[in-house]
Amino acid sequence: RFCKLRFKKVKETPYRRLCSTKKILTVNGKFPGPTLRVHQGDKIFVKVYNKGRHNITIHWHGVNQPRNPWSDGPEYITQCPIQPGGKFKQKIIFSTEEGTIWWHAHSDWSRATVHGAIIVYPKNGTNYPFPNPHKEVPIILGEWWKKDVSRVLEGFLKTGGEPNTSDALTINGQPGDLYECSKSETFKLLVDQNKTYLLRIVNAALNTIFFFSVAKHNLTVVGSDGGYTKQLTTEYITISPGQTMDALLTTDQNNSTLYYMAARAYSSGTNVSFDNTTSTAILQYKRNDAVRSQSSTTPTLLFPYLPDYNDTKSAFNFITRLRSLADNDHPINVPLNITTKLISAVSVNTFPCPQNSSSCEGPNGTRLAASMNNISFVTPSLSILDAYYYRINGVFQKDFPSVPPFLFNFTSEYLPLELELPKRGTKVKILDYGSTVEVVFQGTNLVAGIDHPMHLHGYSFYVVGYGFGNFHEERDKLSYNLVDPPMLNTVIVPKNGWTTIRFTATNPGVWFMHCHLERHLTWGMETVFVVKNRKNDPKAKLLPRPSDMPSC
Ligand code: C2O
Ligand code: CU
Repeated sequence: RFCKLRFKKVKETPYRRLCSTKKILTVNGKFPGPTLRVHQGDKIFVKVYNKGRHNITIHWHGVNQPRNPWSDGPEYITQCPIQPGGKFKQKIIFSTEEGTIWWHAHSDWSRATVHGAIIVYPKNGTNYPFPNPHKEVPIILGEWWKKDVSRVLEGFLKTGGEPNTSDALTINGQPGDLYECSKSETFKLLVDQNKTYLLRIVNAALNTIFFFSVAKHNLTVVGSDGGYTKQLTTEYITISPGQTMDALLTTDQNNSTLYYMAARAYSSGTNVSFDNTTSTAILQYKRNDAVRSQSSTTPTLLFPYLPDYNDTKSAFNFITRLRSLADNDHPINVPLNITTKLISAVSVNTFPCPQNSSSCEGPNGTRLAASMNNISFVTPSLSILDAYYYRINGVFQKDFPSVPPFLFNFTSEYLPLELELPKRGTKVKILDYGSTVEVVFQGTNLVAGIDHPMHLHGYSFYVVGYGFGNFHEERDKLSYNLVDPPMLNTVIVPKNGWTTIRFTATNPGVWFMHCHLERHLTWGMETVFVVKNRKNDPKAKLLPRPSDMPSC
C-alpha cells in the first residue's frame, strides 16, 4: 500500500503556556504534532515543507527503513538539512515494526516541539495479541521551555556548562494543574467504566527520563518500541527519551473520583540539575446527569505513587522485567554466534578551557563534553551517507575503537584524569553486511555518572543483559537472556552499570547511534555504523538515492 501524505508543514506558531505566549516550531501548527496512523507493511511518502527560519530534518524513530537510509533524517548523518523555504519528499517504509513509535525533528534541538506519535496497526486481517481495546489514546510526554530552545542550545554551547532545565514537564503538550496558569488546559481523559484503554505512550522530552503512573490504576504493558512484549502489570513505568510503550488500562474504579496521571523525572546523576516539577493529567469517568446532580461536592482527586527522582532500583526493577512476546506469531531471532563485538564506554567528559576564553562554566573551569570510547563525535558538514555513497574522502574516519582506550575501573570514584579529556573525531564503525553484532555499553563515573538512553537508527536490537558495576564478560554473559529478550531501539544504560544489545546487520546504510538525552548528543555521545552496501545483491543493496535530497 502506498499512500501519499502532505501533512508536514514546519512553521512557527504562537503557543501559550505558563502564563506567557511564545512562538514555537510546529508541524501543521500543532504541538504535539499530528499522529501518523499506518498499518504494518505500508509504504508512505511524506512531503516536508520548511516554512520556518531554521534548518530542519525529520526522523522516523523506530522505523527500520530497510535499504533506505536516504529518508532516515538525522542531519549531516544521512542527509543535509532542509533549509528555510526548502522541501524534501521522504519515503517511509514500515516493515516489521508494529505498535507505537514516533517521528521527530533531528536538527539541533528543534525536536523539543517538532514531534508526534506513529501508530502502526497490525496488517489488515490480523489482530493485536491482546483483546481489542475500547479506545486508543496517545500520551506524549515532553517538556516546555519558557525560552526559545534554540537560544537554550546557543547559551550552553557558549558557556560550556550545563544547559538550563525545562520550565515544565508536559503530558500531551500540557503541564497540568500543578503549574501556574495551566489548570484549565490540563489534559483530561474522559473514560467509560469497565472498559480497557490502550495508552500509546511516547517520551518525546529532550532531557528527561520519566516515571509515569495513574492513581489507582495499574498499567499492563503489552509493547515497547514497536514490538510486542509479554504482558507486564505494573504500578508505574520508567520511560526514557526515545522510548515508546503500549499499556492497557482498565477503568474498574469508583466513577465518582478523579485520578491523576502523573509524570516526573528520574535522574540518578549527582550534581546534575534536572526539571524536578511534576506534570499531571486527569482520568475522569463519564457519569450520567442524574448521578452528577446528586453529588454537589467536588470529587476527590487522587495522586498516584511515583518512585523518588533518584530511585535507580525502582527504575530498573521495571525496565529489567520487560520481555519479548516471543510467541508463534511473533518469533524472535537473537543472534547467538557473534562476529563483531564492541565494548563502548559512554561518558560525560570535559575539554580544557581554550586560551583567551572566559566562558568555561563546566566543572573546575572546563567545558563539558561527552564521548563513546573517549571519542567525542564531531558532526561533519557533508552527510556521511553521501560521503560513503560517493566515496568522498575526508568526511569521516573508519577507526571508531571497538574497546575503550584502556581497561579501567569504570565505576570507581577516582578515574584517570586523561580519560576526562576525550579526543574529537568523526569516527564510524564499518560493519559487513550480515554480521552479528554485540555492543556492551559501559556507563562510567567520569564527571557525572548518570543513566544514558542509547538509541540505534535502522534497527531494532535485542537487549540481552543489564548489570551494575563493571562489565566482566566471563561472569556476565552467563546472565544473558537469549530466550525472550525485549526488542527495542532505545535502551537505558544504568548509572555506573552496563547494558548489552545484539542485532544482525542486515540493513545496509549509514545508521546513527547516540544517547537520546539531547544535551549528551550535543556534547558528542554518538557514533555511526556503516553497514556495507552490497551492490550485486538485491536484498542487500541500497535503494536509489532520491533526486531531491537537500544539498549542504
Ligand atoms: Cu529519536 Cu537519532 O533519534
Ligand atoms: Cu547520555
